[in-house]
Amino acid sequence: MRQFLSSIPVWLKDKLFLKKLIYDELSKIDEIDKKKIKLLFSEHHLSHAASTFYPSPFKEASILTVDGVGEWATASISYGNNEEIRILKELRFPHSLGLLYSAFTYYAGFKVNSGEYKLMGLAPYGDAASARFKKYLDLINSQLVDIKGDGSVWLNQDYFDYSVGLKMVNEGKWEQLMGLPRRRPETEITQEYCDMALAIQYVTEDSVFKMATEAKRLTGSGNLCMAGGVALNCVANGKLLKKKIVHNLWIQPAAGDAGGALGAALSAYHAYFNKTRELNNKMDNMQGSYLGPEYSSLDIELMARRYKSVYENLSENNLYDRVAELLDNGYVVGWFQGRMEWGPRALGNRSILGDARFPEMKDVVNRKIKFREAFRPFAPSVLREKASEYFDIKEDLESPYMLLVAPVKENKRVIPAVTHVDYSARIQTVRCEDNPIFYDLINEYYKLTGVPVIINTSFNVRGEPIVCKPEEAYMCFMRTNIDYLVMGNFLLNKRSQKPLKGDSDWKKEFELD
Ligand SMILES: [Fe+2]
Repeated sequence: MRQFLSSIPVWLKDKLFLKKLIYDELSKIDEIDKKKIKLLFSEHHLSHAASTFYPSPFKEASILTVDGVGEWATASISYGNNEEIRILKELRFPHSLGLLYSAFTYYAGFKVNSGEYKLMGLAPYGDAASARFKKYLDLINSQLVDIKGDGSVWLNQDYFDYSVGLKMVNEGKWEQLMGLPRRRPETEITQEYCDMALAIQYVTEDSVFKMATEAKRLTGSGNLCMAGGVALNCVANGKLLKKKIVHNLWIQPAAGDAGGALGAALSAYHAYFNKTRELNNKMDNMQGSYLGPEYSSLDIELMARRYKSVYENLSENNLYDRVAELLDNGYVVGWFQGRMEWGPRALGNRSILGDARFPEMKDVVNRKIKFREAFRPFAPSVLREKASEYFDIKEDLESPYMLLVAPVKENKRVIPAVTHVDYSARIQTVRCEDNPIFYDLINEYYKLTGVPVIINTSFNVRGEPIVCKPEEAYMCFMRTNIDYLVMGNFLLNKRSQKPLKGDSDWKKEFELD
């Protein structure tokens, strides 16, 4: 009843009038004649499947989509061949691997739908040799979830409230079962929660590996495309490849529900209008996922003048030299170039950059710049051709979207700021063809230092979206301890700027300690 009462206003306001909303938004872009425009609707999991198969580099592939829930499906296996996608198998609500992971996200004191990354980042702090970890693993497998041979899950609804109430779990029952209360948000993270995070990570991997195996059995294809929120679990993705469960893996960078928009559009284009797919054998068709807006030098300069900011306009060659030098000297740089990335990760166009060789850099960026929890790791961006020198991966592996975790090689543990506690790293391989500006910067830094790896984290602070416009980048730069801001060829030094007026309260709000 409570869920009905809270859902119905949303339904009345938006969902029942969705067609009107779409027509209204379309008419803002262009003049439209409603009678001539037919609206097409694509199912949720078909949209996820289309979002990953159609832009992938594969002519044919298995497709695995795993998320919380969309309509009634919570996971699906399909087969994609040229323009056709055939759904072969579906798992249905309330049994959902995504919701199971979100339930643990909630129980560990993080926000559902955005804190799942934190739970994944916490898992390596768990102790796989401890009795407590084994106890949690047993409890999850014996009481909460039954993972079938095909990877599908059956969840014991006695412990979950999401299908009848407004909460993810029945807290009283969980506390009794796990012998551990739900962690209150923002309180200390003790070892128990790390062990629990590791246990649910293992359970998730078990289900994903079995689903991928089942997909291969059903389709006979060695290629796998993935989407849905669970496909953002880059630890599981890395192991899928390492264990050779699939030969080739491609994941839609906007694997969450944002990617559904692209999937619905591609589905209409290829499946409804029968338009031919044009395969790009060397790379996928996501264009590096740099699909967002871009701003000209004039836009940037006008913004800088509006805020009376002090800047230098550098030539391209000078720019790379200078920024590489700044990174080498331990400065943190806000980096704003070209089109914004589409998807949850910053891929070198709206990024905060730092030197991965300095161990203290992780704490500096977490606490003083992003105002986020100290345990959270940072990802390395590495020159594509140098990646297998530093990380234990196949020489030809591409990870342009930061969706694979791999071990840092033992003889290359010189990048502590991007090496997680279990010696793993969430890698972005950078190719000149995808992003020449970012590539040239890392290359210049490599020439200077001998290390082809830098820290790349999204240009935002905790709880805020990634900056898109020059003004947002400038505000984020001014309100944090970022030392330098680079926008296009403009370089801004924090020490030369006048403080923003009336800004002290904003900063206080984000301070963690
Ligand atoms: Fe979804």
